[in-house]
This record gives sequence, C-alpha cells and structure tokens, in this order.
Amino acid sequence: MFVFRYCEYCVFILILIPIGPASIGLDFCLHGFEHLYGIPQHAESHQLKNTSDGDAYRLYNLDVYGYKIHDKMGIYGSVPYLLAHKPGRTLGIFWLNASETLVEINTEPAVKYTLTQMGPVAAKQKVRCRTDVHWMSESGIIDVFLLTGPTPSDVFGQYSYLTGTQAMPPLFSLGYHQCRWNYEDEQDVKAVDAGFDEHDIPYDVMWLDIEHTEGKRYFTWDKKRFPNPRRMQELLRSKNRKLVVISDPHIKIDPDYSVYVKAKEQGFFVRNHEGGDFEGVCWPGLSSYLDFTNPKVREWYSGLFIFSAYQGSTDILYIWNDMNEPSVFRGPELTMRKNAIHHGNWEHRELHNIYGFYQQMATAEGLIQRSKGKERPFVLTRSFFAGSQKYGAVWTGDNTAEWSYLKISIPMLLTLSITGISFCGADVGGFVGNPEAELLVRWYQAGAYQPFFRGHATMNTKRREPWLFGEENTQLIREAIRQRYALLPYWYSLFYRAHVAAQPVMRPLWIEFPEELDTFGVEDEYMLGSALLVHPVTEPKASTVDVFLPGSNEVWYDSKTFALWEGARTVKIPVALDTIPVFQRGGSIVPVKTTIGKSTGCMTDSPYGLRVALSTKDSAVGEFYLDDGHSFQYLHQKQFLHRKFSFLSGVLINSCADKRGHYPSKCVVEQIFVLGLKKQPSSVTTRSSDGKDEPVAFTYCAQMSTLHLEKLSLNIGADWEVHIR
Ligand code: GLC
Repeated sequence: MFVFRYCEYCVFILILIPIGPASIGLDFCLHGFEHLYGIPQHAESHQLKNTSDGDAYRLYNLDVYGYKIHDKMGIYGSVPYLLAHKPGRTLGIFWLNASETLVEINTEPAVKYTLTQMGPVAAKQKVRCRTDVHWMSESGIIDVFLLTGPTPSDVFGQYSYLTGTQAMPPLFSLGYHQCRWNYEDEQDVKAVDAGFDEHDIPYDVMWLDIEHTEGKRYFTWDKKRFPNPRRMQELLRSKNRKLVVISDPHIKIDPDYSVYVKAKEQGFFVRNHEGGDFEGVCWPGLSSYLDFTNPKVREWYSGLFIFSAYQGSTDILYIWNDMNEPSVFRGPELTMRKNAIHHGNWEHRELHNIYGFYQQMATAEGLIQRSKGKERPFVLTRSFFAGSQKYGAVWTGDNTAEWSYLKISIPMLLTLSITGISFCGADVGGFVGNPEAELLVRWYQAGAYQPFFRGHATMNTKRREPWLFGEENTQLIREAIRQRYALLPYWYSLFYRAHVAAQPVMRPLWIEFPEELDTFGVEDEYMLGSALLVHPVTEPKASTVDVFLPGSNEVWYDSKTFALWEGARTVKIPVALDTIPVFQRGGSIVPVKTTIGKSTGCMTDSPYGLRVALSTKDSAVGEFYLDDGHSFQYLHQKQFLHRKFSFLSGVLINSCADKRGHYPSKCVVEQIFVLGLKKQPSSVTTRSSDGKDEPVAFTYCAQMSTLHLEKLSLNIGADWEVHIR
C-alpha cells in the first residue's frame, strides 16, 4: 500500500500499476476538507458520513428489493467518484475501477483543544480539518483522476471530459411516465390511457413490464395479452404518446427462442469457470446472460431493435433495461459468481460494476440505429457506472411506499446528479407496498420537480392510477403533473445545459452557494438549475415546513403566493395538501408553457410565458432552448434555438444566445409575469426588431409588487424588447 497525499497544486495525476492478483488501494488526505459527496449508489444522506465504525461505503451493483435506507451497502449502480468541497475550492477524485470497491472516509474536525506548555490552562489551538479517504478495490489497476476545480462547475466540466455529459433526452421523456408491474393486456393499457384523458391529466409514456412478453422472452409479445402491439402503439401515437417496454440482460434458455439460439451459436453469453455458458435463474427460469462487455455482442444486440427484427415494435417504442447488475436469483448476493468469464477472458470480478452500463450503451445504440441515426433514444437503466449519463436515464430501483423513502429520494437523486447522472428519478408512490393517499399525493408533488418522473408499483399492490383516490386527491395529483408540464421549457433548457456544459439539472444548494457553510449539509431541499428552489413536503400531516433560503444578497419569491423573502434565513411556510413549496430566486427568468395539453407532443405550438423574478438590483436573466424535441438535427444541422432573456432598468430583452442555431418556431410569448416590481409603471410597450413600438395593457398589484402582461404575441425566437416605464 502506498499513500498519496493531495496537494492543492497538483493538477492531474494518473498512476498505473500492472494488474496483480491482489486487491489495490490508495489513501488520500484532503487537507482543509470536511464535506464530501458522491460515490452513488447508496440509500444514504447526500453528505458522506464518517466510516470509522468500520462501515465503509460499498460499491457493488446488487439487486436489493426494498433496500434498507441509511445504509452504505451497495445497491444497483456505482459511480466511483467523489467530490470534496470547502469555501473557495471543490475537487473530485475519480477512481476508475469497476470491481467491487470500498471507500472509507474519516474526517478530523477543524478545531482541537490542546494543553500548551506555557501553563496549566488549556488553550485553543486551531488545527486545519482534514479528511482521509481510503479507496480499496478487489482487483484491477490504480487509475485515478484528481479533478482540481476550483469551482463545483469546473469539477463537473472536468469529470464530463473523462466520462461524457448527459445525453439530450427526447422531450417526451421529461413528461410523466405511467408504469406498473404489470399492465395486464391491451385492454388495460387502453383503459389506463383513456383514464388520463377522462381526468384531464397529462402524461406521455405508458410502460409495460416483464409480463408483456411470451414467458419473459424479451423482444416477444404475449400473444393472448397483447395480440396486436402495433394497434396499441397506434392508439398511443394518436395522442402523441409513447410506449416503453422492458428488456433485461438474462436470456431464457430455450432452443425455440431465436434470441437464445443466435446468441448461443455465436458464443455471446458470459461463460462459467469451466468454459460452458454461465447459467443462472432469473424471471424466465434458467437463463444465460449476454456478455455486453464484448463489442460484437453489443453490436448484435443493438441490431435486435431494428423494426424488422423486433416484431411488433414501432418508432414510438423505447426501452427499459432492468436486472442488469446483473441480477441472478440464487447467485451469491443475488448476482453473478465472480469467477464467471467474459470476453477477453476477464473474470466477472474485474468488471462487475460496469456490466449494466454496457447493456444500456448497446440498447441506446440500437435505438439510434433503427432510426438510421436520426432519432434520439430513450433508455432507462437500473444498473449504472461512471458515464451512464451518455445513454439515458437511471432510477433508484425498488423503493418502498413509506415516507422515509420519499424523503431519502432527495439525497439519493442529488448524489446521482452531481456525479454526472442528471436524468434520474425514484418510483413515484414507492414500488413496494401501498401508499396512503396523502403519501401518494406528496410523492407526485416531489416527483413533478425531480428529473425522471415515473409512477411505478410492484405486482400485487393495489392499483394506484392518479384518479383512484377520490376527486380531491385526483385534483392534487393533476395539479402537480400540470405544474411539471408548465415548466417543461425550463426543464428542457436545463437538460441542454447538462448536455453541453455538464451542469447538473437538480443541484444541492452548496453548488449554487459554494461559499455558504450553511448550505453544505442541506438535503431536504434543492435547486433546479439556478432559478428554482424546491422543498418537497416529506412528512405526513405537515402544516408547516422550514425552508432554508440561502444567500445574504438574495431574494426569493414564493411561487404560489408571490411573497418575497430575503435570503440567509429559514422561514416557516404554512402548507396545505395542495402546497408544493417552490421559490423562484430573485434575478432569474423562467420560461413556461401557458397551456397544458394531453402530452408534450400536443403542446409543441402552445404559447409561452416568462416568469421574471427581480433581484435586489431590479435585474434578472434567463435562457431558453428549443429544438424539434426528438432528433439529432440540433447537433448535425444546428437546428435549434437558444435565446437569452435579460431584464435591466425596466427593459426586458429577448436576444440570441447562440448564433449557430436556427430553428423557426411559430410559438409566441403570450404572458410575462414580473415579480418584485416595486413601482407601478405608467406605460408598458413592446419594441420589435424593426424598432416599432406597441403599447401593452397591464395589471399591476401594488400589494404584491407584481406586474402581469397578457395577450402578448411576441415570437419566442425573435429579437424584441419590453419597456416598462
Ligand atoms: C425489478 C425492477 C422493477 C420491475 C420488476 C419486474 O424489481 O426493479 O421496477 O417492475 O423487476 O420487472
């Protein structure tokens, strides 16, 4: 073992040691740091805890149904990357190793009391805090990257340089997803789909779990339940909706199943130590496991998604990769034996944590190929590794319908977000068990403000479509989902920032306020981008929540009451069942949709609104990104629109943020809502790019300092100004 001491001036270090038979490890001493984050996935707090009690963070991808919370055991995915932060400096350690890994953390506090030799009185001596981080992996080489920041945003950029950025999601995938294990048959799908319309609840994606297949043979359909999958997809298509179906990595051993036969013929399965195909039990019974670490297997698997190969699939069908830790029932810890053999004769122990990554990679590639390179894929994966963000979304697996799981979804998603995986979510409602109505409502309200937004439930749970809990609860869920859809332009613009600049969509407060110690441990609230602070209600029967509003120079506006709060304080906010505590930061402009449709696809032409929240200096900025929402034209043909909004000295300006992009849009900004305007204007006029001025009717509320402009018709993609005098 050798010890590496971190020095503030080291820029980049890569140490390679030849493969040895034993485990490897490395100690880091981070001087001056006591706040560490990262190394998902654990159902634990956002800030990493000391492990001096011998309870190291384990990175080992495992299928743990209804996992325990506040535990450092490994669950579904691993990103061996942590961030350390103190005022003035953020740094990252990326330990590139896919074998089983343990991370120990030991923080020595900042101040120590020592006896001086000068006299009998104990004197206070300031000692710099320090955190020791000890990485240990079962095998492999030491391949470690130090990312020196100095800002959180710099570290995100440096990490993305190594592992890639978040794939730009198709717009539909930012809408609401409806899943359950299982929607029984085509009729059931039709009824649930119609239920959303009857209850006027927008949604974008219907999901089918394992029972849609013929005996859990992926790429097939159960002929009795789903006799006409194309007809079912056409129904969804008619409402601009999509279908996601599951495809797991285990393949049923069955000489009549063509996927099995072809993979077997070509030697595409992971092998056992004796040289035969590895066999393990999973949903279909005895199965073999595709060796996704082999590029040839990935290429072949990608080809299975081509429409002619995947009978009954259409271009609105997308994929969910599950059980890809891989899950092996009756295997050690429900996974594959470590001595199984992969492509290149690598033992499974060497690459366990990256197995699922490769399945998602091959699936995403397959969806791109079936569209001949034109369309962006959507693939949800349960297992992941560093870099999985390039291929789609991740969720937190089999959580439980209890308040504590709703609460822990926030730190779990924050940790994923700062380790590159912006497109993440937790099963709304809790997968295991039956949520009471209040928990379900609160979960929808939280989920509406988290990146991947899907309701899901395990087998034998009571049905829980949003309209099954009485009119009052239906209304609350409807409203939460509608708020999600109203904010889609903001979500999409944030995902663009994640895609091009590696900035997380969902952010812990310390990222936005890196100098403020008070933010370092906050995990019951978070920012979406830099404009919205969300504090989901995660307690039953809550009548108030304590919301911490950071920033001594900031002001915050309650997005429901428009009340203004000064920053650097905790405020007690009264909450009813319909309250989702969301605050807009003074100085920001948030683009929204003013009309909500049945699905994102039905809202393409609907108008926009701008929510302008003024800072203490009466100014605000914001941005907006738009493209066709589904293809790669934004990349290859620069077919996109990137605008910036700025408000200064009473003038709101819409100007181009990126001249390379062109994307004509007919959409108009029809509403502008200004928060924090202290004086009633005498006139409001719009000025188009040809210099023409038009007066605008307005409503000013002196009590709340708000200004409403309505019935505007300002093209979202054109240069214009609004003058408020
Ligand atoms: C796993 C997944 C869950 C899914 C089930 C059946 O438990 O985590 O989401 O519904 O398998 O496929």
